[in-house]
Amino acid sequence: MTPKIAIRDVNKQFGQGAQAVQALQHASLDVADNEFITFVGASGCGKSTLLRIIGGLETQSSGQVLLDGAPVTGPGADRAMVFQHYSLYPWLTVLDNIKFSRQLAVNQKDRTSVDVERASGRADALLSLMGLTAAAHKYPAQLSGGMQQRVAIARALMSKPRVLLMDEPFGALDAQTREVMHDLICHVRRLEQVTIVFVTHDVEEAIYLGDRVVLMAPRPGRIDTIYPVPLPAARDQDMKLAPAFTGLKREILNRIRDTAGMKTDLEQLQKLSGLAALHA
Ligand SMILES: Nc1ncnc2c1ncn2[C@@H]1O[C@H](COP(=O)(O)OP(=O)(O)OP(=O)(O)O)[C@@H](O)[C@H]1O
Ligand SMILES: [Mg+2]
Repeated sequence: MTPKIAIRDVNKQFGQGAQAVQALQHASLDVADNEFITFVGASGCGKSTLLRIIGGLETQSSGQVLLDGAPVTGPGADRAMVFQHYSLYPWLTVLDNIKFSRQLAVNQKDRTSVDVERASGRADALLSLMGLTAAAHKYPAQLSGGMQQRVAIARALMSKPRVLLMDEPFGALDAQTREVMHDLICHVRRLEQVTIVFVTHDVEEAIYLGDRVVLMAPRPGRIDTIYPVPLPAARDQDMKLAPAFTGLKREILNRIRDTAGMKTDLEQLQKLSGLAALHA
């Protein structure tokens, strides 16, 4: 079966000569239709770069990304992105933010009244799905961070994307709000039948949400290890205490530490504090 997303030997270099950064080297991965893939890894290992390449916001130096077998050549309504910062239009209400998604605006000149009606129906359905009905006529500044992010997700879903690309979407939220968002996004995924590629710094979040966790490593940015998550498809918060969950979390955290060069940093620090003790 054709994968939903096929990442084929993708390389990305920023800059030239001594300034060159190899942000991605030989990245290859197949993502199945309706799969939830999570990416973790040390800062600077190329997670956002890879996500932006899939989104068509960045071009690779070599290699290919295929969506349903067709090469990605730029952004499109079939892929929607959600970032850490909600980037809502502050002058529009919640409902208008959802209705006037950028992807829809592109096609606005060709829209008929039937399209507009259909869009209104979908906006209402998304408001209800995201628990935002009561906030429909509020402005972003009147909402909590968690609610603003729900608006951003509803807006991303408005164009019925086949793929949802999320870059640390819950990074700015507190732990309790984040748990609510986790269960919400699992529900959205089941209802909307959307393939999700999700970048996070939080290993627990990556395991809880993911069918597979992809660990990336820096210098050069690359895919290091792919961990299938040994949990039932329908997740609940209690699973975070299961040995299969905690064991995988420990394994991934250790591997991040090994690949990030943090151990060497720590050894240097210990040496330095040893030296400081000698001079005291
Ligand atoms: N536009 C750019 N110009 C030059 N270098 C860039 C650019 N974008 C990213 N880089 C570099 O490419 C590497 C990968 O960056 P990227 O943002 O993809 O990492 P990341 O894994 O998302 O990191 P973080 O976890 O901190 O968000 C880094 O070394 C970064 O400095
Ligand atoms: Mg990033």
